Amino acid sequence: MYVIAPSILSANFAKLGEEVQNVIASGADWIHFDVMDNHYVPNLTIGPLVCEAIRPLTQAPIDVHLMVKPVDRIVPDFAKAGANIITFHPEGSEHVDRTLGLIRDSGCQAGLVFNPATPLDHMDWVMDKLDVVLLMSVNPGFGGQSFIPATLEKLSQARAKIDAYAERSGRRIRLEVDGGVKVDNIAEIARAGADAFVAGSAVYGAGKDGDPHRYDSVIGALRAELANT
Ligand code: DX5
Ligand code: ZN
Repeated sequence: MYVIAPSILSANFAKLGEEVQNVIASGADWIHFDVMDNHYVPNLTIGPLVCEAIRPLTQAPIDVHLMVKPVDRIVPDFAKAGANIITFHPEGSEHVDRTLGLIRDSGCQAGLVFNPATPLDHMDWVMDKLDVVLLMSVNPGFGGQSFIPATLEKLSQARAKIDAYAERSGRRIRLEVDGGVKVDNIAEIARAGADAFVAGSAVYGAGKDGDPHRYDSVIGALRAELANT
């Protein structure tokens, strides 16, 4: 029921294929794929070509987190490149409902991402088109930042909205958290209501480079913490 999604932002890009396969072999569930455009966020990362290149290497869902503005132009390219889940920030799209529809019409699951200061009410009128709600627990743009504690209360509020919606619709929306998730705080974050956890530096920073089993112990430790909740 809990999803662990290592962010390849902190992987060794010179060995990206192996880095993807090794985290999945070590027990991770999704590959979190951070797309930054040096416009919506002050950093530049990877696009559909890289998604297409890793697609044949794993059966795991690829969770594309778009930190770009505008959003719509690039959605079909990621769908064609094999993305399974596409999330975006409401500030990046002029027409949030339309963008969610576009993602779903492209055959992917759709999600909205909330920055630390972005209010949750952006989700209220589009629940039927949401598969994932992603709360940022850092400001987007960089790996390795510290978890912002106010996210815990915000997760509880998002959990309440999602549970109320599940009661009336029968649909379960995932509640994902992204930024500063570590072995020592993941249990508390889960208790606040998250059920999917992005971890970049915590996973890819672990162990010895060149060892295909280097991620077993950190992913095992994250799971052990989740088992205690
Ligand atoms: C930040 C990205 C995150 C980032 C998380 O803008 O969206 O996915 O890679 O990295 P850590 O886990 O190191 O905070
Ligand atoms: Zn992300």
